[in-house]
Amino acid sequence: MDFKEKIADLIHENVEAISKEELLKLIEIPPNYEMGDYAMPCFKMAKIFRKAPNMISEEIVKMIARNKYFERIESVGPYVNFFIDRGLFAKTVLKEVNEKGEKYGATNIGKNKNVIVEFSSPNIAKPFHIGHIRTTVIGHSLYRIYDFLGFNTIAINHLGDYGTQFGKLIVAYKEWGNKEVIESNPIPELLKLYIKFHEIVEEKPEYDDLAREWFMKLEKGNEEAKELWQWIRDVSLKEFNRVYNMLNIKYDSFAGESFYSDKMPRVIDIMNKKGLMKDSQGAKIIDLEPYGMPPALIQKSDGSTLYITRDIAAALYRKETYDFYKNIYVVGSQQKLHFEQWIKIVELMGFDWAEDCVHVPFGMVSLEEGTMSTRKGRVVFLEDVLNKAIDKTKEIIAEKSPHLENKDEIARQIGIGAIVFQELSNNRIKDYTFSWDRTLAFEGETGPYVQYTHARASSVLSKANVEITDDIDYSLLSNEEAIDVIRLIHDLKQIIIDAMEKDEPSIITRHIVDLAQAFNKFYHDCPILVDDEELRKSRLLLVKSAKDVLKTGLYLLAVEAPEKM
Ligand code: ARG
Repeated sequence: MDFKEKIADLIHENVEAISKEELLKLIEIPPNYEMGDYAMPCFKMAKIFRKAPNMISEEIVKMIARNKYFERIESVGPYVNFFIDRGLFAKTVLKEVNEKGEKYGATNIGKNKNVIVEFSSPNIAKPFHIGHIRTTVIGHSLYRIYDFLGFNTIAINHLGDYGTQFGKLIVAYKEWGNKEVIESNPIPELLKLYIKFHEIVEEKPEYDDLAREWFMKLEKGNEEAKELWQWIRDVSLKEFNRVYNMLNIKYDSFAGESFYSDKMPRVIDIMNKKGLMKDSQGAKIIDLEPYGMPPALIQKSDGSTLYITRDIAAALYRKETYDFYKNIYVVGSQQKLHFEQWIKIVELMGFDWAEDCVHVPFGMVSLEEGTMSTRKGRVVFLEDVLNKAIDKTKEIIAEKSPHLENKDEIARQIGIGAIVFQELSNNRIKDYTFSWDRTLAFEGETGPYVQYTHARASSVLSKANVEITDDIDYSLLSNEEAIDVIRLIHDLKQIIIDAMEKDEPSIITRHIVDLAQAFNKFYHDCPILVDDEELRKSRLLLVKSAKDVLKTGLYLLAVEAPEKM
């Protein structure tokens, strides 16, 4: 049952001059529940009837006072405030949760619509570091949110596996590299080579030319260059996959930048035909001045292509392959201009779906000692962060619940959950400074807090050891503590949609913290396993519902929900 619909129906039956659809659009949610669950402002009707809004409000209250959906309808100034019948509300919400369980809130609004979520996309041969945590975790959550709402969702990792830096790596490897050493510890060893190259090139600039030559060879399909590049890609991906496995991330495609190397000529051709390209000292550029942006360099004078060209080729390929409804890029806000430029170029190339390409930016992570720098070796590896969080959880478990079964697995779920949840707690656009202390602080409104609340609900249910039924007396759930929980359960549905529309998982994070808090208050103030059978049955249904919905919320953030902690 939709109470908003009921309000519109009740008013429309009495006031035919305004349509139900219009009324629906007018209904508001008051700033707090003391003012009702819904409010109808009367300004619009006042205009139609040429009466003061306060009078209209009073007349409406008189007309619809008698009904079975609202226990109270009040006129307050120009507003009519509606208070839902609590028993009926509890029944409506909890019956639905009981029926749908962990699928409560799932919809099919995305039916037959393909949505691509591109996320993580690290550069091979470089550390997978704390700076990548945001794209990885935000993207994974968005993937689950769209999927839950019925979109046909595709996860893509646009690996940075191409570009002039591979020329540098090949040169460095041929000069100073050793296969066994690299295979024993790939990323740090490749990073060493990369740093060494940059040191040496200061004195011997001819290495830069050599690097360019090797990249050209790679672009032209030279066997040796290709083999080395493939090997570097393989060992890097093996490292990255360890982290993806820890986070339960699965990709549908790892088509990275290199995948588009042979798809350039067509892109360049369309740009030429549309008359977009200009020569600039042998290089090809597209002038974007009319759009208030600097020109985009599309092709270097030696013919090699660039990051931006590969993004354009990738967008064309994705449209043709997936016919996307939306093509989302979860990439740091430093690349804002890059995305604005290439999306504009795709539009100028004549593709109206350019507007379905969406850059979802997020703020920067810096270290206490300054910005991260791969070249200077100033990085914190993501894998280390996850492992430290797991180790710390193991210590806490050893101290607080030494008899817990499956300790290692649960420590993994909680440790990683803590990191992921924290990452999704703030608005994504905010910058922040990474600190070990804060990352490993599990107190307060954290992932472990919500996980613990879920486990607590679970343990009440297993203690009760009965089948949960929704055939209960719902008026027993109309006290403040219970209704608060039920409201938050009810609101989750809209919250998931809001999170999708704003591409903002933190909306869900905050909501389930509120739900966990409301549940804990209920748990504290309202004993559940009481002797009174009717009361016990009704409270158990609420516990089960809260547990399922907390689990769903955590799932959408890609945080696991152990039954015991
Ligand atoms: N590999 C890039 C980096 O690490 C991110 C790629 C973002 N995705 C894209 N389609 N440009 O900075």
